[in-house]
Amino acid sequence: MKSLCILSLIALELTLLSASRPFYPLPSKVAVPLKKPLQTTRPYNVAHRGSNGEIPEETVLAYMRAIEEGADFIETDILASKDGVLVCFHDVTLDETTDIADHKKFANRRATYEVQGVNTTGWFVVDFTLEELKLFRVKQRYPFRDQQYNGKFGLITFEEFISIALDAPRVVGIYPEIKNPVLINQHVKWPGGKRFEDKFVEMLKKYGYSGSYLSKEWMKQPVFIQSFAPTSLIYISNLTDSPKIFLIDDVDIPTQDTNQSYWEITSDSYLNYIKEYVLGIGPWKDTVVPEVKNYLEPPTDLVARAHALDLQVHPYTYRNENQFLHFNFSQDPYKEYDYWIKVIRVDGLFTDFTGSLHNYQELESPLGENFTH
Ligand SMILES: *[C@@H]1O[C@H](CO)[C@@H](O)[C@H](O)[C@H]1NC(C)=O
Ligand SMILES: *[C@@H]1O[C@H](CO)[C@@H](O)[C@H](O)[C@H]1NC(C)=O
Ligand SMILES: *[C@@H]1O[C@H](CO)[C@@H](O)[C@H](O)[C@H]1NC(C)=O
Ligand SMILES: *[C@@H]1O[C@H](CO)[C@@H](O)[C@H](O)[C@H]1NC(C)=O
Repeated sequence: MKSLCILSLIALELTLLSASRPFYPLPSKVAVPLKKPLQTTRPYNVAHRGSNGEIPEETVLAYMRAIEEGADFIETDILASKDGVLVCFHDVTLDETTDIADHKKFANRRATYEVQGVNTTGWFVVDFTLEELKLFRVKQRYPFRDQQYNGKFGLITFEEFISIALDAPRVVGIYPEIKNPVLINQHVKWPGGKRFEDKFVEMLKKYGYSGSYLSKEWMKQPVFIQSFAPTSLIYISNLTDSPKIFLIDDVDIPTQDTNQSYWEITSDSYLNYIKEYVLGIGPWKDTVVPEVKNYLEPPTDLVARAHALDLQVHPYTYRNENQFLHFNFSQDPYKEYDYWIKVIRVDGLFTDFTGSLHNYQELESPLGENFTH
């Protein structure tokens, strides 16, 4: 059944390959009261870039697969095209995960820009219009993952992403990131001096995302807004009360907007300050439980300190493959989830394999028939 479903979706995608209009009716025609609600009793299953462990990241099929597999939230990265359209794409350049190199007419569009203090060369998303971006096909980032879907799916817009969540047969939240806001605001200009952050919030409001965490509005259309840039989160806290998650990078990477160190932004005084604006933090998981030679070290006190301030903790990224699993988990992703949920006690997990996390949680803490997907 599942593979049939995937095949028909592929057929749908292929017939619509050249169309840049949304694939789904906007907004959803499915009546919200009939949908099964979001579960809130166990840590959130956040489908990182969709089920990108199986299907190329941030494509329609990766998101639909994640919904089918039991995601609580589908996660995405928002960038902007040259003509100011918000699109779902992780890297600032198209080089790694699309077929841009095969499009010879864009060979001279390569550029070098400073991104977070590093001169980076490639085909930048911000140098292409939406119409041009729709020409490119996405491929798997890692060679050890299934390559059969390479070249079959295009980039999607923020609007198309929202429509996938709204059209899901149960309530599925969205978890969009305000990605590289410093770079985007340097390169993309909107009428009236609007900022990237303004356009981002406008889009959420256009489709009815509002309300504080666990409010009635939020439960109908759950959203977490995430960013590594604290000034973006503080700025948008004036525009929306939707819950926000402050992402925290590796220990050697300063914030892109305020140039603060990991140690500064994870101090008690900073967490106490940022909690006025955010519901929680999203740290790189190796900063919570450091590793040496692929073995886990004792956990740091970051989760305990965040919880003491009532901040949720949603670490990233959980991946099934041996290339990513620490030796302590003996190549078993269920053991990794077990450790992070029962010992570290996180509140949400960004995973490339939503199906595995869902199956683990259904074994350990089943939700019952009101929630069974
Ligand atoms: C990036 O390149 C420009 C031009 O060559 C140079 O002026 C600048 O210092 C470089 N920046 C970094 C961070 O290396
Ligand atoms: C939020 O809005 C208030 C009132 O308009 C303004 O004074 C303040 O500077 C704004 N804060 C941010 C971070 O934009
Ligand atoms: C960021 O902070 C570091 C460490 O304090 C400093 O060396 C660097 O020059 C700063 N960079 C910018 C762009 O201000
Ligand atoms: C992981 O394995 C190493 C090596 O056996 C051990 O020293 C360490 O305590 C383990 N860490 C955890 C969190 O179990």
